[in-house]
Amino acid sequence: MIANAARPTARPELLALLGRTPLVRITADLPGPHPGFWAKLEGLAAGGMKARAAESMLRGARARGELRPGAPVVESTSGTLGIGLAFAGQALGHPVVLVGDRELEPSMRQLLCAHGVRLELVDRPAPEGGWQAARLARLRELLAVLPDAYWPDQYNNPDNTAGYASLAAELTAQLDRLDVLVCSVGTGGHSAGVIAPLRRHWPALRLIGVDATGSTIFGQPARPRLMRGLGSSIHPRNVAYDAFDEVHWVGPAEAVDSCRRLARGSFVSGGWSTGAVARVAAWAARVHSGAEVATVFPDGPHRYLGTVYDDDFIAAHGLAPSAAAIRPIEIPHPRAAEAAGWVRCTRVTDPLRASVSPYPPEETL
Ligand SMILES: Cc1ncc(COP(=O)(O)O)c(C=O)c1O
Repeated sequence: MIANAARPTARPELLALLGRTPLVRITADLPGPHPGFWAKLEGLAAGGMKARAAESMLRGARARGELRPGAPVVESTSGTLGIGLAFAGQALGHPVVLVGDRELEPSMRQLLCAHGVRLELVDRPAPEGGWQAARLARLRELLAVLPDAYWPDQYNNPDNTAGYASLAAELTAQLDRLDVLVCSVGTGGHSAGVIAPLRRHWPALRLIGVDATGSTIFGQPARPRLMRGLGSSIHPRNVAYDAFDEVHWVGPAEAVDSCRRLARGSFVSGGWSTGAVARVAAWAARVHSGAEVATVFPDGPHRYLGTVYDDDFIAAHGLAPSAAAIRPIEIPHPRAAEAAGWVRCTRVTDPLRASVSPYPPEETL
């Protein structure tokens, strides 16, 4: 059992390090020529992209009196929000207890612990809902023994989304024009948070969501997934379904190939979500002739040295470049067929609201 952690000193001066990330033009071969797109390098800010969401959720809870000064914060994470919470916890003076799982990379475990986080790991996925459901079950046990603790619930907390107003403001200051925005979707936070303010600025802006194969967010069946960060085995309520013009499901082979091409050709790179959005952004820049395309690279490459950038891992999982699709297959409806690689659909619906016939499991693309 976990005892209540000591009350840390708040270090509000750290908040000066939040956001304000650079935007860079990407022209690397991804694969094949494209006119280039803009990438917001969120991995270059202290605490990464999710520090924006973490700070917003803790501040919101403090303002409503749901989080008392010095009280612990407990959350389930596959890593990125954990680092963001470690940052916001130090800045605002809260101990942080995180529930991760066995799949959390050893380097991320070390990083979290080095930053003062108390880390709990679950060792098997739940029969329904996978790792996410298993982490949430453990989280509820922790909340029961830490009566003062606050659970931000990043999947459903509107303050997660609200935290990305700063990201939208930075984009409007950094770009003269924007026609297409490509966002990875995990909790749905950053895509939902940026699209409303950006459309006030550029009303015709198209939003492309990028999900992982095997993720159920946009109505595909949930399967075990290799990729972390984007995708989900639950239906987060923060996903702004109505805001998306189209969705792409990208597989691990495409993400790996893109990450490696980015690192070789444009120096900046990242992990699964970065590789996936880069491939879709390059495709969008190619097919929408003359359009300005931008995307968000949520983190950098370091966390993925043992996966995306490891030749043995790639060989063991059959992720050679030859397995990576160079263009998406089109489907008319998210349930028309199961995506095994890169698939595109221009019909976006909330699976919890949609009444569609069950998809035929024998059809896999
Ligand atoms: C590395 C990484 N990329 C992308 C995402 C998706 O972002 P969002 O949760 O804002 O949809 C996440 C979310 O956990 C992430 O950790």
